[in-house]
Amino acid sequence: MNDAFSNKRVLVVGGAGFVGSNLVRVLLETSPEVEVVVIDNLLSSERENLPSDPRVELRVGSIADDAVLAGVDDSFDYVFHLACFHGNQSSIHDPLADHQNNLLTTLKLFERLKRDHPRLERIVYAGAGCAAAKKTYGDPVATKEDAPLSLEQDSPYSISKLVGEFYAVYFHKQHELPVVRARFQNVFGPGEVLGAGQWRGTPATVWRNVTPTFVYKALHGEVLPLHNEGDSSRDFIFVRDLCRGLIACALRGQPGEAYNLASGKEHTIRQLAEHIVELTGSEAGFELLPRRTWDTSGRRYGCPEKSKQELGFTAEVSLREGLEQTVAWTRANLDRIEACVAKHAEQLRASQVVG
Ligand SMILES: NC(=O)c1ccc[n+]([C@@H]2O[C@H](COP(=O)([O-])OP(=O)(O)OC[C@H]3O[C@@H](n4cnc5c(N)ncnc54)[C@H](O)[C@@H]3O)[C@@H](O)[C@H]2O)c1
Repeated sequence: MNDAFSNKRVLVVGGAGFVGSNLVRVLLETSPEVEVVVIDNLLSSERENLPSDPRVELRVGSIADDAVLAGVDDSFDYVFHLACFHGNQSSIHDPLADHQNNLLTTLKLFERLKRDHPRLERIVYAGAGCAAAKKTYGDPVATKEDAPLSLEQDSPYSISKLVGEFYAVYFHKQHELPVVRARFQNVFGPGEVLGAGQWRGTPATVWRNVTPTFVYKALHGEVLPLHNEGDSSRDFIFVRDLCRGLIACALRGQPGEAYNLASGKEHTIRQLAEHIVELTGSEAGFELLPRRTWDTSGRRYGCPEKSKQELGFTAEVSLREGLEQTVAWTRANLDRIEACVAKHAEQLRASQVVG
């Protein structure tokens, strides 16, 4: 990566989150003269996720708030829009909060940026591969960017991510807004803090994603819950690779287009769990559970070809290598993660009693 962002002003909406804070770090490391503004309401993140660096300005607030939006002046060269209402299960619990933070955020940001932003080179929108993938428990094919989209979606989260893509295409066509859509597969790696941010109505506030959940539970000697008996699969992309992909989208992506940020490799949840058990030395084993009723996305992975051809982007870090780094980071940050999990202990207990 070169220092393409030196002397550039970059806005990262949702920049205190897992992906956002990693992206900010990569920008600072690769472009010494970059200026980064982060807008984040800390709904699913902590202020401490962000490096303390004079080149980073954090504005705490919602991008759907008109006063915050008014501060998005015409000084930005690049915008990365990573805000969402995390994640599927919280959105099922509270679709209106999802709408407010996962979709209205996108519409209001695009409306704001369509006027008088002469310096704006690119807006990179975080799309989700899960929304575009075919729902199947049989043999999947790698999802391409132009695969047909289904109206049947598993969650308001997925719907918001897709409608965000519709708006991206619309604003590009009607207003020449230079939006590039980056479709992420399942991102994992250092910096994903279980329980970060505010309680969002379900235990998924804490157990927010399969990889950090398994690593945390394995390090605490707890059994790993394998839904669908571990036979579901995902395409796991290491967060540093994903950040390189986001940067490639900003520098080389065609406005209006979508690009998969995918490893192109399918791994079952059981394989993921086996790696984690080995790396942590856990002896607690697995608990085989039925399918999650809301999740019809059994097996899937993304096709990386278009991104390779047009962006020159390929994911480089293997699942095993990325997990080694994730386990090491989790061990080193266990106190901080445990404190975040503990914030929600009462709500977690209450939800278990109700459930
Ligand atoms: N992590 C993945 O596996 C994955 C997969 C597909 C797509 N994505 C997308 O990537 C983006 C980043 O995901 P992540 O894993 O870092 O999640 P995250 O929850 O860690 O980050 C999202 C950030 O958005 C912030 N936010 C929420 N509402 C906001 C608002 N109204 N205004 C400003 N900020 C707001 C949150 O506080 C958080 O810091 C999201 O858009 C997500 O949908 C992630």
